[in-house]
Amino acid sequence: MKSTLRLVEPLAASGCHGAASVSSAQRKVGDSWGYSPKRVAFHKQGRSYTCIKCEQNAGDSSRVVYNNQAHLEREALQEKVVVSSLQGATPEDSICVDTKSSSRREDVLVEELSQRPESVDSNTNDGAGSNGNGYKALDESPLEAEAWRLLKKAVVSYCGQPVGTIAANDPTDPYPLNYDQVFIRDFIPSAIAFLLKGEHEIVRNFIHHTLQLQSWEKTVDCYTPGQGLMPASFKVQTVFLDREGVKETEEILQPDFGEAAIGRVAPVDSGLWWIILLRAYGKCTGDLTLQERVDVQTGIKMILKVCLADGFDMFPSLLVTDGSMMIDRRMGTHGHPLEIQALFYHALRCAKEMLHPEAHDLIRSVNSRLAALSFHIQEYYWLDIRKLNEIYRYRTEEYSSDAVNKFNIYPDQISRWLLDWLPEQGGYFIGNLQPAHMDFRWFTLGNIWSICSALATKEQSEEILTLVEKKWEDLIGTMPLKICYPTLEEDEWRIITGADPKNTAWSYHNGGSWPVLLWQFTLACIKMGRSDLAEKAVAIAEKRLSKDWWPEYYDTKSGRFIGKQARLYQTWSIAGYLTSKLLLKNPDAVKWLTCEDDEDAASISCVDMNPRRNPDLKPQGDRHIV
Ligand code: GLC
Repeated sequence: MKSTLRLVEPLAASGCHGAASVSSAQRKVGDSWGYSPKRVAFHKQGRSYTCIKCEQNAGDSSRVVYNNQAHLEREALQEKVVVSSLQGATPEDSICVDTKSSSRREDVLVEELSQRPESVDSNTNDGAGSNGNGYKALDESPLEAEAWRLLKKAVVSYCGQPVGTIAANDPTDPYPLNYDQVFIRDFIPSAIAFLLKGEHEIVRNFIHHTLQLQSWEKTVDCYTPGQGLMPASFKVQTVFLDREGVKETEEILQPDFGEAAIGRVAPVDSGLWWIILLRAYGKCTGDLTLQERVDVQTGIKMILKVCLADGFDMFPSLLVTDGSMMIDRRMGTHGHPLEIQALFYHALRCAKEMLHPEAHDLIRSVNSRLAALSFHIQEYYWLDIRKLNEIYRYRTEEYSSDAVNKFNIYPDQISRWLLDWLPEQGGYFIGNLQPAHMDFRWFTLGNIWSICSALATKEQSEEILTLVEKKWEDLIGTMPLKICYPTLEEDEWRIITGADPKNTAWSYHNGGSWPVLLWQFTLACIKMGRSDLAEKAVAIAEKRLSKDWWPEYYDTKSGRFIGKQARLYQTWSIAGYLTSKLLLKNPDAVKWLTCEDDEDAASISCVDMNPRRNPDLKPQGDRHIV
C-alpha cells in the first residue's frame, strides 16, 4: 500500500531530535542525476521518522521526493528513492511532493497519515530458521528477524566462504574509513549469535583465517607488530595478477595490526578475544579438533608468550599503551587498565582449559599468573564505601614492604564526584591502578568481564551488579550501557585525550552509551542469577535500536541522542542485541563464555609465593614467581 504523506510544519517546530545532512556519496549520486538528497529526521506522535529528501536542483518542477523510512530495510529504501528520482517514477516506497504548494520550501516536513502495511510487525522471519543446536527460533520477534537480516548482510566472504562480519554497513556513509573491515573484537557478538543459531561454519573459518594472520616476526623498525599479536581487523582484497599474459584475480586477506589504524594503536585485546572465542566454539559445538590442532595450539602459545613475557613491570597485571582495546584512542587508559586485565584473566582461564597437557611449563606459568592477577585486582582495584573511607584516611610516603598504602595514593586525588556517587551498597573495580594513581572511573566492559571470568569473587560480582542497579540512571539511562562513568571534562579532557573532538564529554569513548555492551551485561547478569536486570536493559534498548538505525553509540548523559559521529547499522550493535536475546532464551549457553572460581589458583597463595614473606620457600628452577 502506498503511504499518503502531506506537508505539515517546519523542522524546528516538530520536536526534531536530530537532523543529519546526507552523505556525500548520496550527494554525488543525487548531483549526477540532478537531485540533492538530504536526510531529515523528525519526531511525530511519539515515533521517530527519517526521510530522504531528493530535491531537484534546477528547472521549474521543484519536485521533492520523500521516502518514509520509519520501517525496516532502510538502506534498501534509500536506494529506491534515488532510483525513483532518477526514473521520475513513484514506486510504492516513495512519495512525490510538489513544493510549489508549500510556502516554506526549505522547511517542509511530512506526516504519516496512513500506516504503511510493512511495519516492523509484518516482517517475516526469513533471517531466522532452523538451528543445528536445537535452539528454537520459533518465538523470534520481528525485531530479531530484522537484526538477523542485517547481520547476514554484514557477512564478509573470502574465496566463497563466510569469514566474518563487516564493522558497519551504513549505505549513506561516504567515508567508511576502516569500518568496512572485519574487526576481531567486533566479530565476537556476531560469532556468538551464529553459534547460538547453530551456524558454526563462519566462526570456524574466522578462527582459522585470523590465526593465519597472526604476526610471526617482529622487526623493530617500521611499526610492525610483535610476534603473537593478532590484528585489530582485516579486509578481503582482490589483487590482479598477470600470469604469463593471462589476467586473473585473486582474493587475499589484508590484516591491520594498527599500522594503518588511527593513532597506530596495537590491539592487545584481539588475541585475548581470539582465545575466548576459540573456547566458546569448542564448548558450543563439542568439536575440540579445532583447538587441538598443532597450529591452533601454537597460536594460543604465541599469544600467551607475548602476554607473559618479562618486562620492566612490577605488577601481575598487563602493562599496555593507551587505546589498546575497545577504547582505541587516548582516554587515559594506559598502564594497567581494568578492561585488559579482565580479558587477560579470562583468556588465561580459557587457554588453560585448552592447552595440551604437554605444555606443562606454560600451564604452570598461567596458573601462577592467574593467582597473582586475581589477588592483585580483588585486593587493590576493589572500591566500595568502606574501602573509599580507608583511602580517604590513607597515610602517605610509607616506606616498607608492609605499607598499607602500597601505591602511595594521596587522598586528595579522590575525585569529588565519587564521594557522593558511591552508594552504601555495591562496589566496583576502578579503571586503572598505577604508582600514586587510582583512576576511579567506572568502566563497564572491565567490570562485566571480571564477573564473567570469575576474576571478581562471587561477593564482588554481586556487588558490581548491585551498583549497576543502584546507579541505573547513570549507567543505563535511556540506552544501555555507558562505556565509562563519568566523563573527562575541560582541562582533564584537553590533557588526557589530547583535546580529541570525537571524545568530548558524554560522547563516544568519553561517557558515550554503547549498545554492544548489552550482550556482555546480559552474560554477567545470567551468570549471577540476575536475568531480571538484563531483561530490563534489553527492553530499553529495544525501543530505539531499530528506529535509530542500530547506531554505534549514543551521546549525552542519559544516552538520549544518536552519537555525533556514530556509524549506523553498526554490526556489533545488531549482533549484540541478538546475542542478548538469544542468551536470555538459552541461558545454559552462558557457560561457553564464563568461568567459575579457579580451584588451582585458590590453592596458590600470593603471600606464600613471595619469598620475602615466606622465608621457607626455596628458589626453584621452573617456579614462576609473579
Ligand atoms: C571504533 C571503536 C572500536 C571498534 C571499531 C570498529 O574504533 O572504538 O572499539 O572496534 O570502531 O567498530
